[in-house]
Amino acid sequence: MTDQRAQFGTRLGVIATTVGSAVGLGNIWRFPYEAGAHGGGAFLLIYIGFIFLIGVPVICAEFIMGRGTRRNIFGAFRALHSSRYWAWTGYMGILASILILSFYSVVAGWTMEYLAEALTGTLDAASAGGELHDAFDNFAAGPRSVMWTLIFLAINAVILFRGVRGGIERASNVLMPVLFIILIIFCINSLTMPEAAEGLRFLFRPDFTKVDSSMLIGALGQAFFSLSLGLGTLMTYSSYFSDSTPLVKSAVTTASLDTLVAILAGIIIFPAVFTYGCEPAAGPKLVFEVLPSIFHQMPGGPIWAILFFFLLFLASLTSTISMSEICIAFFCEQLGMSRRRATLLNTVIAMSLGTLCALSFGAFSGFTVCGLTIFNLFDYLSSNIMLPLGGMLISIFAGWIVDRRILRSQLAGTGRISTPLLRTITFCLRYVAPAAILLVFLSGLDII
Ligand code: TRP
Repeated sequence: MTDQRAQFGTRLGVIATTVGSAVGLGNIWRFPYEAGAHGGGAFLLIYIGFIFLIGVPVICAEFIMGRGTRRNIFGAFRALHSSRYWAWTGYMGILASILILSFYSVVAGWTMEYLAEALTGTLDAASAGGELHDAFDNFAAGPRSVMWTLIFLAINAVILFRGVRGGIERASNVLMPVLFIILIIFCINSLTMPEAAEGLRFLFRPDFTKVDSSMLIGALGQAFFSLSLGLGTLMTYSSYFSDSTPLVKSAVTTASLDTLVAILAGIIIFPAVFTYGCEPAAGPKLVFEVLPSIFHQMPGGPIWAILFFFLLFLASLTSTISMSEICIAFFCEQLGMSRRRATLLNTVIAMSLGTLCALSFGAFSGFTVCGLTIFNLFDYLSSNIMLPLGGMLISIFAGWIVDRRILRSQLAGTGRISTPLLRTITFCLRYVAPAAILLVFLSGLDII
């Protein structure tokens, strides 16, 4: 079985691809608006705590299960334990991956619209006329948003048809470093803005009076979402790792780079939010209203806008490819479908649900469940509930059920692992991560 599966070619390819999956709209679109909605500094601090305390051990758990079995999430649970019940974590992961793919594609579609507008000069004109707010609302409510969602999913499908190595690895290798450099240039630009200090204060000075259960749940959900964690993406990816890939090091590198990109996005957005008098708690549209103003005042702005939205579109694509891969691996390996068929099925489902999400900014905006539109409901359910729950189960499974020898041999790879490090990771998987996730959930129920 091992031999028949594709494998990532190089060590850099492994990092670029896992980081490519992690870095996406989650960092650049979702992080700033979540941080904005939950008061800034304290959110950032708690978010970083969750990333390293819970995120890194759970990434290790996914890696161990993925490479240890060389299966998709569903097969990995079955291979490591005879009970059928654990495999339900896999079903939840597959459901969550489809929900996320659906609303994510809507936002990826927005980046394509903005790219098109930047290319035609409409975006700059709207910024000059101070019409960004209305322009976004009108666009998101209209049929173009649905059109872009569908186009994006079609492009995603075309890349997936081409298989693991050809499409994904090559694209990520080249593009992630370029995105990184551009973000740094934008940071420098934002730091020269008149209200830069206020923006940085908002992002970095924690105000602990803002801590409440909704913030804790938000920060935990954001940590899982941003790391692509909890539904088997990294498990599926690591099933393509070679035996010599160092798992702990890859986990720490992925988490650190991903967090760095989120912080860079914060440094870009918040100085501009305060300089242009925007509302930090504007929600999902925050970044799309703020960025065009930034580009408008930069020398060579339209070119930067084109470059940025193009790269954001590609970053979204590496992320949606990773999400789809879970479902496709499941359809292929568990249900025996051909890769083509599996990709098609995944795309058709996501197109249907994605259309509903897109319309929830327009025709369906009045349709809400517990006060959430379809878009927000899909996001809340998958990011804030299913991913942390999946992470908790994966962590308990790896910590308590998987044979210690498998943990040791996987974490050591072809090298060695020190006993204290192995003990620390096992301790986190057994106690720290599950307990922390449980406490956050309980706080949401107002039990504590
Ligand atoms: N982490 C990606 C981002 O930040 C999104 C993503 C890709 C994801 N694959 C995932 C989120 C799997 C949850 C689960 O944009």
